[in-house]
Order: sequence, then C-alpha cells, then structure tokens
Amino acid sequence: MNILVLGAGGREHALAWQCAKDSKVQQVYVAPGNAGTALEPKCKNVVLKTTSETAGEHSAVIDFCQNNNIDMVIVGPEAPLVTGIVDACRDAGIKAWGPTAYCAQLEGSKTFAKEFMATNNIPTAAYEGFTDAALAKNYIDEQGAPIVIKADGLAAGKGVIVAETIEQAHAAIDDMLASNKFGEAGSRVVIEQFLSGEEASFICMIDGDNILPMATSQDHKRAFEGDMGPNTGGMGAYSPAPVVTDSVYEKTMAQVIQPVVDAMKSAGHPYTGFLYAGLMIDESGNPSVIEFNCRLGDPETQPILMRLQSSMVDLVAQGLAGNLPSQADWDDRVALGIVVASKGYPESSSKGDVISGLPALTTDINTAVKVFHAGTTFAKSNDSDSADDYTNNTNSEKEVVTDGGRVLCVTALANTISNAQQAALMVTGAISFEGAHYRRDIGHHAISREML
Ligand code: AMP
Ligand code: GLY
Repeated sequence: MNILVLGAGGREHALAWQCAKDSKVQQVYVAPGNAGTALEPKCKNVVLKTTSETAGEHSAVIDFCQNNNIDMVIVGPEAPLVTGIVDACRDAGIKAWGPTAYCAQLEGSKTFAKEFMATNNIPTAAYEGFTDAALAKNYIDEQGAPIVIKADGLAAGKGVIVAETIEQAHAAIDDMLASNKFGEAGSRVVIEQFLSGEEASFICMIDGDNILPMATSQDHKRAFEGDMGPNTGGMGAYSPAPVVTDSVYEKTMAQVIQPVVDAMKSAGHPYTGFLYAGLMIDESGNPSVIEFNCRLGDPETQPILMRLQSSMVDLVAQGLAGNLPSQADWDDRVALGIVVASKGYPESSSKGDVISGLPALTTDINTAVKVFHAGTTFAKSNDSDSADDYTNNTNSEKEVVTDGGRVLCVTALANTISNAQQAALMVTGAISFEGAHYRRDIGHHAISREML
C-alpha cells in the first residue's frame, strides 16, 4: 500500500511513523513533511504546491494520488479540510480520511460550532457573536470579567484571549475587530462565558455512524510553566488524562460525541474522520465543549500514537469502509511529549537555527523515547537547494535546522507520568539550538494526582 499524509507538523510525523510501521505499507509520502518525516524509514517528502489552503484547489493532491497509486490519504491539518479536500478526493474516486467541508465547519467557524451545539443541546459556554466593536465592548461591560474573546475563523490556536479584566477584554476587541490582527478570521468575534475546571482532549475516529474513541489526552496551551503566558498551539501533552474518569468518559460520549454523529447524519452530512472535542471538566465531573477540531490534535497525537498498538492503517481503512471497531489496542503505559519551541514563539518564530543533540534515528518501534519533528528542515547546501534535493534520501548527512514555531516534540513512554516526564526531559535537555525553549512541567496535573 501507498499512503499520502498531508501536513508538516509533529502530528504528521507521528502519523507517518505509525503508517510506516505497518508491513503492508510500501511507501508513505508526506506533503510537505519536515526533516523528521524525510529521515523516517519508508517515508518520503513531496512538494505539492497546492496542498491547498485555497478553496477548491486540490488538484495537485488528486493528480499526485492518481499518478502514484495512493491507497489512502490522511489529512493532518484543518485548513485543507475546511476548504473541502475530502469532498474533492471523493469526487475523484480517491479515499481520503477526514470530514467533508460541511462537517469541518465545526472547527472552521466558531459561530457554526456554537449554533450547532445550542441546537443539539451539547454543553458549552454561553456566548454572543459580534462584528461591531462598540456593541462587543458593551456586552463585555454587562458580563464582567473574566471573559473569553475568540476570533471566529481559523487562527492556528492563537485567536483566543482569556481576559482577566474588562480592560484586557476591550484591548482584545480592539486588536481583533479594530486593528484586524487576525485578518479575515478575526472580523467577527465570539465572546464567551469563562469556564473553570480542568481541560482534556477527547479525540475519536468516526465513520459516519460508528465511533472509535482514541486514548484520552491533555494538552498544555500556555507558553510558560505554571500555565502562564500567552496561548500557543500546544507546548506538550500526555496520554491518558486521569481527569477523564469513567464517568466523564460516559458523559462525553453521550452528551457530546454521539449528538454530533446523530445531528450530522440527520443533516445529510455524516461525520467522517477524526473529531476532537476540547473539554473543560468542572469540579462535579461535567464536561463542556470549549472547541471542536475536525482533525487530530497537535501535540496530543504524538503521545496518543506512541501508545497505539493497533495498526493505524487498518483503523483508517475500516473507517473508510464504514466498519470502525469500537475499540483499539493501547499500550498501558503513559506517554508524555514535550514541545521544544523556537525563539519568539508564539508571537514569532525563528528559522534556520542549527539543531544539535538529536538522538540517532532508530527503527526500533519499541523505543521508549521518540523525537517527533515539527518545524524542522535541512540546512540548504551550497551545491544544490532544489526541492528534489530536500526529498531525496541522502538527508541523514545534513544539518537539521529550525523552520517554525514548534520545532520538536520529545515523547516518552513509561510506567508512570513522572517517569515519562523525566525520560522526555533527559532527551530534551541534550537538544539545543539558538533560542530553544520548552516547559519542564508538562503533565503537572497528572503528576499531582500521582503524588496523592
Ligand atoms: P480554543 O482555541 O477555543 O481551544 O481556546 C484556547 C484555550 O483558551 C483553551 O484551551 C482554553 O484554555 C482557553 N479557553 C477557551 N475558551 C474558554 C472558556 N470559555 N473558558 C475558559 N477558558 C477557555
Ligand atoms: N493542541 C491543540 C490543537 O491541536 O488544537
């Protein structure tokens, strides 16, 4: 089998690595991939110029699949899903795993998601949508702080301000509606009631009807230790998340996931692909949805897939055929991933810094620590810097350099969360590049529980 994974992050490295482990698989192409996917056995990066973030332009992917006998496409990021890559592939007779553009609105538009949740009685924070700054500020004054301001469209996890004070909330409105900091994505805002509790990521595979819950996980959204600083795409994650007790799990399936499947089916748009519910779990163990994503989480995928013992390829094939099993096999151990970010992240990022101390690539699938790459590439050599050079297999000689905000996710498996944190920290500590920063407290909620 040949597989095409779309995307360039740590999530896609983990997906490609899992797919490549399956003996049925000859080749995993990753578009565009990163240095980690280029180095992975059986994986090869390809440049598909229109991997597309532009509506309707998915022809490069379709041509590539038709010319390279691709048996399945696994779509990593949200942008191509929101612009209909799955619809376009299906129309061309190509098997692509993900939701249609209609279903992807659950992530692509916060307004769609909030209205969908209201209609289907899915628990979530109270909200109002605004395009006018003065009206938005009046509403904030009425509601008081803390309060949450969100850009309506896609903003790579960064278009959310949890304002502690009314002044901060007003400033967020000025940024989004008045100075257009998030462009089109921020021309409309959703203002939400602040929810307190502990967050967890609840990710499932859905084939239109059947639901396969993946192992639970918890992300760390804030840039700095102690959950301080600005929101990021995620600075680390671990799986499983003990906050998701059996009762929280049952409630989430009954009150959140099943209603999505039922409502999408009755709207004539069966939900297919990964569905990610970002949950806030209150003190009584009741989940509310903070957000839906129409894809796997990043970095949650790295620890989750580190624990997956079933074949990812078989699960996707079953999903595409409409016969997903209700359970997969998971390693009983805990997995924990620490994101190493580049200078300036999340406000900016630094490219071209040489990364040293990466452990040698190992093909041993049972290794307890795996470094998934995200924003990495190879230093351009003087003799050739063509795209072909980037994708060939002489890469192992080349220097790996930073190429984005989140650079690596060092992921460890161990019997306890503390041991997984220690193992990941040891490998992380040996890696260095100019401006590298990471959190040493990933897993702190679960570690406090372990100490009890
Ligand atoms: P989102 O992109 O919607 O997941 O929001 C990013 C982060 O902001 C979440 O992971 C939460 O930590 C925080 N957040 C979002 N909405 C709320 C809310 N209504 N109450 C409290 N925190 C929130
Ligand atoms: N880690 C959060 C996300 O993938 O949206």
